[in-house]
Amino acid sequence: MKKTLTTLAAGVALAAFATMGASAKTHKLTYYCSAQEDWCQLMAKGFEEATGIKVNMTRKSSGETFAQIKAESANPKGDIWWGGTGDPHLQAAEEDLTQPYDSPMRKELLPWAIAQSESAGNRTIGIYSGALGYGYNTELLKKNNLPEPKCWKDLLKPEYKGFIQMANPNSSGTAYTTLATIVQLFGEEKGFEFMKGLHKNINNYTKSGSAPIKAAARGENTIGIVFMHDAVKQAVSGFPIKVVAPCEGTGYEIGSMSIIKGARNLEAAKKFYDWALTADVQSRALEVKAFQVMSNKNAKSSPAAPDLASIKLINYDFKKYGSSAERKRLLKKWDDEVKVLPQ
Ligand code: F6P
Repeated sequence: MKKTLTTLAAGVALAAFATMGASAKTHKLTYYCSAQEDWCQLMAKGFEEATGIKVNMTRKSSGETFAQIKAESANPKGDIWWGGTGDPHLQAAEEDLTQPYDSPMRKELLPWAIAQSESAGNRTIGIYSGALGYGYNTELLKKNNLPEPKCWKDLLKPEYKGFIQMANPNSSGTAYTTLATIVQLFGEEKGFEFMKGLHKNINNYTKSGSAPIKAAARGENTIGIVFMHDAVKQAVSGFPIKVVAPCEGTGYEIGSMSIIKGARNLEAAKKFYDWALTADVQSRALEVKAFQVMSNKNAKSSPAAPDLASIKLINYDFKKYGSSAERKRLLKKWDDEVKVLPQ
């Protein structure tokens, strides 16, 4: 009898081990990333190393990832969406494309990260924050005898024609944040007048938000409207980039993370979610010169990072500008009234 029980127990243990082995083998995560490419890669690799779960990553801009998740919603392919501006994450929550998750890591997060989550029924959460602004190539500015811009309104000066780049707000969260910031700063009518004036000076609307400052660092563009941390990254990498916090004040983002509704690898997605909110993992952002303010209270920051407390920030209305109706309306209006204008 005793022997039978022992044999049975051994059998059960063996079966359990075999199942574990099988599930470890099939364990994978489809990860959509909307932060900077090198950070996305670091996260994918770090998670694989920490858990043994195989990560399949795609990097796309915030608006593009939103569009992909929406297009795939009848047959979801992604499990987790990490990074990118909060507005499209909020829109995804409202459109039922993502699902609530109550992470045990919430208690370690700063209030703005939790507020982002609560405003979306816990379908998203804040992972980092950063202020919008612009950066310019000091050598090109000098070479072209251009004045140093300090304010948003400076960018409308005719002498900057062809010297400014920003992303397209349909694909890029950075550019949508720019549009929403200008509307909140100057009011809708004057804000759209501003965007039309700016349009005359734009040399190219890129797909990705940080592309304009990367181009400025390479000497292929002069002024790039981007998140300030993306400009700082180029400056500390040795490029002649000066970072500007516009004099009128500026908007900011709450970079977010969401679990995709119908995720095929839900347990792996939750594991990634909890892991990505730890102080150690968030502190690794500095390895790739990602200078956002992280949401875990104990994450490390760099003295090179823009100091949000010293920047004049507007009271960005995330609820309104992250709502599905407002985001659709503003983007359509920009397409219809700004993008179509001759330059
Ligand atoms: O490059 C990093 C970053 O600026 C993030 O802070 C931001 O959330 C994301 O890129 C936005 O990228 P995009 O404008 O391409 O959607």
